[in-house]
Amino acid sequence: MKILITGGAGFIGSHVVRRFVNTYPNYEIVNLDKLTYAGNLENLLDVEKSANYKFVKGDIVDAAFIQNLFDKENFDAVIHLAAESHVDRSISNPIEFVMTNVVGTCNLLNAAKTSWKGDYDKKRFYHVSTDEVYGTLGEGTEMFTEETSYDPHSPYSASKASSDHFVRAYYDTYGMDCVISNCSNNYGSFHFPEKLIPLSIHNIKQNKAIPIYGKGENIRDWLWVEDHARAIDVIFHKAKSGETYNIGGHNEWTNIDLIRTLCKVMDKKLNREEGTSEKLITYVTDRAGHDLRYAIDAKKLKNELGWEPSLQFEEGLEKTVDWYLANETWLNNVTSGNYQHYYEEQYQNR
Ligand code: NAD
Ligand code: DAU
Repeated sequence: MKILITGGAGFIGSHVVRRFVNTYPNYEIVNLDKLTYAGNLENLLDVEKSANYKFVKGDIVDAAFIQNLFDKENFDAVIHLAAESHVDRSISNPIEFVMTNVVGTCNLLNAAKTSWKGDYDKKRFYHVSTDEVYGTLGEGTEMFTEETSYDPHSPYSASKASSDHFVRAYYDTYGMDCVISNCSNNYGSFHFPEKLIPLSIHNIKQNKAIPIYGKGENIRDWLWVEDHARAIDVIFHKAKSGETYNIGGHNEWTNIDLIRTLCKVMDKKLNREEGTSEKLITYVTDRAGHDLRYAIDAKKLKNELGWEPSLQFEEGLEKTVDWYLANETWLNNVTSGNYQHYYEEQYQNR
């Protein structure tokens, strides 16, 4: 089977590529990525020389390029992760999110439809999406299920909701084999330090302020990224066509409690007196349209396909901190911008 994984140089995509390359030596994995600021080939150093792995630099917004790639490679399946993923960036630049997340997804769907010529036997289009399409929950105990109505609030979540609708439209209209998963907040290794957890780890190391939006009372449901990659593997192989699965960790934290816990872990790991890192917490202007609470009910995935998260948050957070402290070169290359030269240095003249 030849699988196109889009966005494989990003945070979650690199974990999915690694899992598929290592677990399925008989599959051919093609990683297509534009290498935006969020794409980093240094996330994949351990698999880049594997015989069943190939990297292609390209933009999913470029319809002709995408159609050519499908014609040339004859893919059996697509696992689509490429996206603009940061909510704050979507507030300052919404159109980029429409182009990549909506138009880019439609280009992939269309190229797959043309390439597969209506024969979807042993073909699959898997769209990796987010719980943010459901909007926000109140402070109670209600959770998002697969039946929850879409109610996106940010340009990011509106673009992901739109791309989910297009995937369903290709299933309903053309009978294309499609599956979608909607996942909660991921954390773990190779997370770009613009997102809350890696940004805070980086700032604590540098003794810089930790910016907390508003009062820090917003709640997110955290899932270890390797558990997400395993869920994608299970859904890709076992889900029936047309199905949607929610993926989540049953790990709800207010941002302020999460950051206080992180501060304690960092003090311990850096041999600093307890309370040192907490002094860096700085309340800043809230995010516009900031969703209050996300929480995922992942019962369907557990009951139908047998997936459950393997790590509780405290354990995963400590593992994550250990990874960031042990991988200073990776972090320094990201913060200095050096990672953006890796493609020219290692790939362009091959
Ligand atoms: P990321 O920003 O770390 O990575 C995105 C990748 O897509 C990057 O490698 C980037 O170069 C690539 N890309 C962007 N625009 C492209 C384009 N036009 N053409 C080709 N490649 C392009 O994102 P992530 O956090 O790894 O998220 C991956 C997917 O999972 C996204 O679809 C996101 O919506 C979804 N998701 C993320 C989370 C999370 O907590 N991070 C949770 C649920 C769902
Ligand atoms: O729920 C899934 C989503 O999780 C994914 O679809 C997105 O791609 C991913 O980026 C993530 O979105 P969030 O907006 O929840 O993640 P972020 O790390 O940006 O923010 C987490 C929470 O922390 C959120 O309530 C905003 C807050 N925050 C964030 C940053 C960057 C702060 O308080 N300070 C910060 O500096």
